[in-house]
Amino acid sequence: MDVVWNTRYNTGIQLIDEQHQELFATVERLRHSVQAGAQREEIRELLTTLVRHSERHFATEESFMARYGYPDLTQHVAEHASMLTSLHELLQKFQESHHALALMVPTFMEGWLKHHISDGDFGFVTFLKARNLA
Ligand SMILES: [Fe+2]
Ligand SMILES: [Fe+2]
Repeated sequence: MDVVWNTRYNTGIQLIDEQHQELFATVERLRHSVQAGAQREEIRELLTTLVRHSERHFATEESFMARYGYPDLTQHVAEHASMLTSLHELLQKFQESHHALALMVPTFMEGWLKHHISDGDFGFVTFLKARNLA
């Protein structure tokens, strides 16, 4: 099963939607590479890209949320921070030669993204819509 963005994840905020699509695409590239038995270096680069895209996306969302005074910002930032900690740990372990770990990243990241967008990011969209801001 491919890791694909779906219109049900559409927040209506263009930059956030583009970044979500980019994250799904990166996870899918990683999944494909791992399954195809790609070289360690290629997988390491994809993992690094995934971390970088996640950091950029979380920073974007958090600045939007701060700008609009989103009341659940602290909790949302904590969820982002916890995901980044997990990703950094996985990258670290991968570099310490626990190569097989890469196998679980796409499934882990896909599950997290779908849950987080549906529950977390949509909380912000609902907040904006209630104030006619989105
Ligand atoms: Fe998001
Ligand atoms: Fe988020």
